[in-house]
Amino acid sequence: MQNALLFQQSDLIAEMVHEIRTPLAAIVAYAELMQRSSATLEQNRQFSDIILNEAERLNEMVRNFLDFARLESGRARLAQDPVDLNTVIRMAVNVLTPQVDAKHIGVSVAVPATLPSIVGDAQRLHQVMLNLLGNAIKYCRAGDNIMVTASDEGDHLAVSVADTGPGIPAQALPRVFERFYRVPGAEDQALGAGLGLTITRQIVEAHGGRITVSSVEGKGTTFMFTLPVQQDA
Ligand SMILES: Nc1ncnc2c1ncn2[C@@H]1O[C@H](COP(=O)(O)OP(=O)(O)OP(=O)(O)O)[C@@H](O)[C@H]1O
Ligand SMILES: [Mg+2]
Repeated sequence: MQNALLFQQSDLIAEMVHEIRTPLAAIVAYAELMQRSSATLEQNRQFSDIILNEAERLNEMVRNFLDFARLESGRARLAQDPVDLNTVIRMAVNVLTPQVDAKHIGVSVAVPATLPSIVGDAQRLHQVMLNLLGNAIKYCRAGDNIMVTASDEGDHLAVSVADTGPGIPAQALPRVFERFYRVPGAEDQALGAGLGLTITRQIVEAHGGRITVSSVEGKGTTFMFTLPVQQDA
């Protein structure tokens, strides 16, 4: 194996271990607290809630890491099925509706009733939508809006997820698709490993598409991706 690749991999492993240790440390600490005889029933309920939450977060991280490693190594097999993007978009929005409502964010979807079907992996495209919408929800504040659009551009479909959230500083923008990159200060706003957009780009590009981002600090952020439409031979 080439040296550079080895270094890259040990880097990746070191970062993964670092990411996994934070929720794990919380789980151990709260489990220990629960074992103290002085803990009240109410406290124990609270502690077990935290443990469950952190365990779920850990679960999602591990899933993300595996996904990322598979895609990165080229071992991931993409399904090659006809996909109705309209359904993919609506399902993702439905899944996230409780989070959107809880945070008092508005969501509008402007997608034509019929779009040319594309060939790809519906489950992974669902993941793309969940990651982009999930970010918009995560970084928006109450009263912000999220707009989802899709359009037929002939040889490709274009999908955009735009939000009126805090935006991303210009100097950070070129880096948001890098693995483990988070905009400085993101830790204070929301939990995350900085892998979501890396995975999202991997999936879009594995479909032969492109993803871009534009953002104005204080105004909002727009992610746009394309997916090629199979032309009839
Ligand atoms: N819609 C958005 N508005 C503002 N900032 C965003 C938005 N989407 C992404 N970002 C910034 O880009 C960074 C990278 O996003 P990415 O989805 O890769 O990681 P994450 O959300 O921090 O963690 P993960 O997705 O792995 O849970 C985020 O940490 C955040 O700083
Ligand atoms: Mg994310």
